[in-house]
Amino acid sequence: MTTHTPPTVYIIGAGPGDPELITRLGYRRLHQATVILYTDSLIPPEMLADIDPGVEIIGSADKTLEEILAIIIDRTRSGHTVARLHDGDPSLYGAIQEQMMGLLAANIPFEVIPGVSAYQLAAARLRVELTLPQQIQTIILTRMSGRIALPQPQELASLAAHQASLALYLSAKNITTAETELLQHYPPTTPVAICYRLGWPDEQIWLVPLSNLATTSQTHGLTRTVLYLVSPALVLPTVPKIYQGETSTQTITPSKLYDAQHDRLFRGG
Ligand SMILES: C[S@@+](CC[C@H](N)C(=O)[O-])C[C@H]1O[C@@H](n2cnc3c(N)ncnc32)[C@H](O)[C@@H]1O
Repeated sequence: MTTHTPPTVYIIGAGPGDPELITRLGYRRLHQATVILYTDSLIPPEMLADIDPGVEIIGSADKTLEEILAIIIDRTRSGHTVARLHDGDPSLYGAIQEQMMGLLAANIPFEVIPGVSAYQLAAARLRVELTLPQQIQTIILTRMSGRIALPQPQELASLAAHQASLALYLSAKNITTAETELLQHYPPTTPVAICYRLGWPDEQIWLVPLSNLATTSQTHGLTRTVLYLVSPALVLPTVPKIYQGETSTQTITPSKLYDAQHDRLFRGG
């Protein structure tokens, strides 16, 4: 017979910034914790505004993996429930794999609660579907090579060849090279949304043609917390006018999902 040990560590996705965008489960688990370790560079303090004053809150931005693990292990062994709060969705550029391996090695049970990633809030703000029938059926989530080199088959230029919707994380400092690589396959007029601090009070979004991507990003002095969303869908008329470079007349092919002629399991008839 196996016994179930309840988790003592919750790895929680906080979403991109707006405290309303954490999931109900994430919020509930966060409030079960007696110690909270959070990525203070990417999570606004408002996210923790209603946490009980007796809860220990620790920022992790200035800590090494070893220090973070040592705190989690120490607190759980002293009987605490620890919330490890990550921005966005923890499975994306969250460096959680090594934390989970450390917890596994220390025999500490943990649970992961997903979150809304930055690219999802970008699509919502811009009011576009990133997957359009017959046009775009793939989304690529990637980053530029920086201190961390990309595996050669995943270099940006080769991903650009798919002309999919593409969300570029962690790339503000290398945006000139990113633009050059993207231009190898996307037309220069392809719209790109430059999304700065989505969900934060000072959020800003610029919608520009790909050929103006680096210049716009640099003119505004953007170096961090920027997501670049490249997508042919961004020309559609649902994109709020404040973001639109020029008025669009483009049409779309509606999905078969709600097509009256299309048999569906859950539609009577
Ligand atoms: C360490 S990664 C974490 C990504 C996160 N796990 C997610 O799912 O969104 C940090 C990068 O994500 C993007 N990012 C995270 N939060 C953002 C936000 N609120 N606005 C814009 N970009 C954001 C930026 O590209 C930033 O450099």
